[in-house]
Amino acid sequence: MDLGLAGKTALITGGSAGIGLACAKMLAGEGVAVAIAARDPARLAATAASLRVHFVTADLSKAEDVLRTAHEAEQALGRIDILINCAGSAMGGPFLEVADAAYLDAWNLKLLGYIRMTRAVVPGMIARRDGRIVNIVGGAGRYPNASFLTGSTSNAALLNFTRGLSKELASYNVRINAISPGSTETERSERQLKSRIAPGQTLEEARAARLAQIPLQRMTQPEEIASMAALIVSDRMASMTGAEVLIDGGVMPSV
Ligand SMILES: NC(=O)c1ccc[n+]([C@@H]2O[C@H](COP(=O)([O-])OP(=O)(O)OC[C@H]3O[C@@H](n4cnc5c(N)ncnc54)[C@H](OP(=O)(O)O)[C@@H]3O)[C@@H](O)[C@H]2O)c1
Repeated sequence: MDLGLAGKTALITGGSAGIGLACAKMLAGEGVAVAIAARDPARLAATAASLRVHFVTADLSKAEDVLRTAHEAEQALGRIDILINCAGSAMGGPFLEVADAAYLDAWNLKLLGYIRMTRAVVPGMIARRDGRIVNIVGGAGRYPNASFLTGSTSNAALLNFTRGLSKELASYNVRINAISPGSTETERSERQLKSRIAPGQTLEEARAARLAQIPLQRMTQPEEIASMAALIVSDRMASMTGAEVLIDGGVMPSV
């Protein structure tokens, strides 16, 4: 399917690993000029070189870094047609053991990070009457569990944000949608698995237990999320805005 994306430009936060990296590869492969942003400068530079994309080193939990990233990406690309908000990470744990700092870290990076970046790039999109934003959210936004409330509260708020902004932006032909991955095979999910191994359980047993909870019996691959993101930001989906697509192996049927 020709997505007609060649010649567009995209900023992808968290583009040096996992889902963000898969999105960067996918869009670059479609002929989109891409800029990726993350913290680790060595990994970012190596990724950017291998994909032949631009990069901005930034800690997107900080408001000033978000603004600088939007500015530098715009300078490098000329304009930002597509924003994929993907940089996120949250420390989970038993409710009584998770202190305010873990919530604030998670909210600053993912919730405020996505909101701030959207606010930074949207004026240009409005002026051009064209823009496409995808927020990578997460199934826990709708179906939380007690051991990951730091992340799920961000996700729930981001669904609200996406829904709340969509009609306002629609009047300027700017579309904003969410993709909610379930357990997706990335560094982050591997870290989470290791941190949640039950006493006496091996890593392999923990892996098998996680898989057993997924009806399709497979971890989602980052490329599946990237494929959906590419489709959503293309004109093939020109009428789609204010929507959430869940890709989770059937864990939470949402029809
Ligand atoms: N994997 C899953 O199972 C899953 C499920 C549901 C939702 N999600 C969501 O999908 C998104 C991506 O997850 P992932 O699994 O692909 O994560 P990942 O493999 O850990 O990659 C995270 C990316 O974000 C960057 N990043 C992290 N903290 C940052 C910060 N403070 N400032 C700038 N960049 C930062 C990382 O680079 P640096 O570390 O170098 O900064 C990396 O490029 C997240 O929002 C996550 O909540 C993932």
